[in-house]
Amino acid sequence: MKGKQVLLTGGTGGLGLGVTPAVLAQDAEVTISYRNPKEVERLKHTLLPADFERLHFIPANLEEEASVENLINRIGRVDVLIHLVGGFSMGKIHEYSFFDWKHEFEINLNTTFLTCKHSLKSMWEHGYGRIVTVASKAANEPAGQLGAYSAAKAGVVALTKAIADETKGTDITANVVLPSVIDTPANREAMGAENADSWVKPESLAQLICFLASQAAKDIRGAAIPIYGNL
Ligand SMILES: NC(=O)c1ccc[n+]([C@@H]2O[C@H](COP(=O)([O-])OP(=O)(O)OC[C@H]3O[C@@H](n4cnc5c(N)ncnc54)[C@H](OP(=O)(O)O)[C@@H]3O)[C@@H](O)[C@H]2O)c1
Repeated sequence: MKGKQVLLTGGTGGLGLGVTPAVLAQDAEVTISYRNPKEVERLKHTLLPADFERLHFIPANLEEEASVENLINRIGRVDVLIHLVGGFSMGKIHEYSFFDWKHEFEINLNTTFLTCKHSLKSMWEHGYGRIVTVASKAANEPAGQLGAYSAAKAGVVALTKAIADETKGTDITANVVLPSVIDTPANREAMGAENADSWVKPESLAQLICFLASQAAKDIRGAAIPIYGNL
């Protein structure tokens, strides 16, 4: 990714704490979109002074098309899109509100569509692109109380594969990773750390994402890669 313009969405989130330093280590120029300034500060505390020379932060709500367009116009060119943004909620379908259902699709699928759509315009123009999206084990193995999340993440897989198909014959690729439980601060707080050894470390997921986002991965397209740790 040396010298590439990378848009890293969700880079301030729990997974982002592992992915951001890994992407910066590739000598890329990195723009992180964010909503919550407190999460930006949390991330900054984990980085090295030299990292800030190639790191930019732009506020954006990726559920709104105008905000995504503004973000990408400000970057100017996107060579690599690593889209980590997503969200999770659970509940039995007969008790689950339509509002929450739509929100799962907005945060997981609509943000993926909008960031891919506007990044692809730049990628088609320049003839180069790497897209890495994040789905979930739940897309492959939907479970009770995860109906909305599983359906939205299955949509992320389908969208990513469709992009990979329509960019065949170019140097633009799209691939999706499917983690089980990631060892993030929020998961440790919600579930305790007793089983954390079985979870996927953000650093190991970051290595997979960085490879898919690299020039070297030019022959991998439309892959939906499970990364389940020991779950
Ligand atoms: N954690 C897990 O165990 C797990 C398992 C499987 C898959 N995943 C997937 O992995 C990805 C990262 O998960 P995570 O644990 O790092 O989640 P996280 O800590 O909640 O981080 C999500 C990030 O997305 C940003 N975001 C949310 N809505 C946004 C919006 N509308 N516009 C712009 N930014 C928005 C958040 O920023 P703000 O806080 O500023 O809104 C945050 O930086 C997600 O796609 C998630 O579904 C996670």
